[in-house]
Amino acid sequence: MSLAQCKAAILISGSGTNLQAFIDRVRAGQLAIDIAVVFSNKPDAFGLQRAKQAGIETSCLQHGDYADRESFDRAVAAELDRYAPDLIILAGFMRILSPWFVRHYEGRILNIHPALLPLYPGLNTHQRALDAGDTHHGSTVHFVTDELDGGPRIVAGRLAVANGISAAQLQDNVQALEHQVYPQAAAWFAEGRLRYRDGQTWLDGKQLQEPVVID
Ligand code: GAR
Repeated sequence: MSLAQCKAAILISGSGTNLQAFIDRVRAGQLAIDIAVVFSNKPDAFGLQRAKQAGIETSCLQHGDYADRESFDRAVAAELDRYAPDLIILAGFMRILSPWFVRHYEGRILNIHPALLPLYPGLNTHQRALDAGDTHHGSTVHFVTDELDGGPRIVAGRLAVANGISAAQLQDNVQALEHQVYPQAAAWFAEGRLRYRDGQTWLDGKQLQEPVVID
């Protein structure tokens, strides 16, 4: 896979600030991926407008129209596969994926989770970090496996938690960091430097024991 050939599908459910970071990097010539399609499970996701504004094709299906999780996921994959994506980027896609979907794109799905994994899988991560009195917090990019927010980690953006900061402000700060680390992980994948093998993350031919940390 050469640089310009890495075709990505970006999956969103909401505002799409991470999607915007990808769009801006690609436009600036700093990230050699082709964002072939942006998919949302929510028709009113603002990220769909960001994609259209950037001239990127969009697609939307709603899970309520399908009998179960796997049949929805099969329909999503049929949409995405029209673009033959090399990489699936979950950017605030708030759906648990079926084992079928994970296997269909095995080793080619990235997710970003707003916590320093393995801390705080699931929801409400910023408040949980504050409640625990953590001195550091952040966000982690990882390969997706069947385990929710549990796949092998790639890169974490980490920041110090300021005294008295609110959960909303912490979320804004973490998201600003996400906009740096997520495109970085996608760039490594597109360059062929990042791979998933034997259930592990490999970067530059070495198995990562811990994620790369960006402060
Ligand atoms: C991001 O902060 C991302 O970490 C989080 O959703 C936000 C989406 O923001 N993802 C999850 O919580 C997944 N478990 P965005 O729509 O502005 O990119």
